[in-house]
Amino acid sequence: MEYVRLGKTDDTIPVIGMGTWKLGADKEGTIEAIRYGIGLGMSFVDTAEMYANEEIVGKAIQNEDVFIGTKVSPSHFRENEVLRACDASLGRLGVKAVDLYQLHWPNSRVTIKETMRAMEKLVDQGKIRHIGVSNFNLKELRAAQDAMKKHEIVSNQIEYSVLVRDFGDALSDYCKKNGITIIAYSPFGSGAFFDERYGNVHVILDDISKKHGKTAGQVALNWLISKGNISAIPKAGRLDHVEENAGATGWKLSPDEIKTIDSLGQSKTPIAGRLNAFTKRTAPFWSGIMTRIEHKRIKSGEEEKDENIMKRQ
Ligand SMILES: NC(=O)c1ccc[n+]([C@@H]2O[C@H](COP(=O)([O-])OP(=O)(O)OC[C@H]3O[C@@H](n4cnc5c(N)ncnc54)[C@H](OP(=O)(O)O)[C@@H]3O)[C@@H](O)[C@H]2O)c1
Repeated sequence: MEYVRLGKTDDTIPVIGMGTWKLGADKEGTIEAIRYGIGLGMSFVDTAEMYANEEIVGKAIQNEDVFIGTKVSPSHFRENEVLRACDASLGRLGVKAVDLYQLHWPNSRVTIKETMRAMEKLVDQGKIRHIGVSNFNLKELRAAQDAMKKHEIVSNQIEYSVLVRDFGDALSDYCKKNGITIIAYSPFGSGAFFDERYGNVHVILDDISKKHGKTAGQVALNWLISKGNISAIPKAGRLDHVEENAGATGWKLSPDEIKTIDSLGQSKTPIAGRLNAFTKRTAPFWSGIMTRIEHKRIKSGEEEKDENIMKRQ
């Protein structure tokens, strides 16, 4: 595994970590997948209160040497709410402190000063080690940093992939210059990357991947981390996927190959950018709904599992 420095800190995180959104309904499978990934070096595990899986993730990382990141939902950005949400996440994860606590999306209804005051308090109380943000554009990122008195933002988690790169390209230079690590989420476009719709992209990536004895997915991840200052966090429930993702490091695309992938151009999913702007505006509203949906989904998975166990008995 290769590592990237986290912000301006002395900590490093693996260039390939693990996302966990939509993991959790299959409890044992989730624990197995996360532990398998940790064993392969992907020891940065990302979750969020919104994913409704912190308990299972907590079980998976118990007694493991990991860097754990979670997120507070925009509907909890008032000072007391941030403090309460953090305590709740710590309880569910079963840890005394999280390594990285991130604001999930900006929320213009609460002043960033108030939210950041709470985040700084949490560092001072030893409940979180580092402060990160997610889905913050340049203006929001600067405002969040300016709102802090003594600590610094170490990371911005944003959607960044071969398919969706507008946000990432725009922020890359600024973050690199200012010592803010980019955490690239949905590096496979939430699975869309493996769709037939992106046939053209695949023809090029397949061609490159064959030269390295790798897969197109591994090339897509390697292209991301080739930019430097990035940790990508693919989500994989299948063990063969977990293993494949870990194999995206330890080798390098040539500068020409990187250029070829760069020139594939802007996403074929312009809707992603528009959706991003829309979800940001409405974040406080839908984050509550999303949390309820996730809880329901996880619960129905548990029920399905119980049914299967009963059928087997
Ligand atoms: N901050 C935010 O607002 C935000 C938003 C979205 C996501 N995230 C974070 O980013 C993480 C990753 O993004 P994501 O969950 O949207 O999706 P993603 O990582 O882009 O894609 C996940 C999908 O790709 C499949 N997959 C993974 N590795 C594969 C491989 N090597 N070959 C073939 N298929 C593979 C997975 O299948 P299997 O599961 O079946 O293996 C799953 O269907 C999330 O889990 C979450 O932690 C953050």
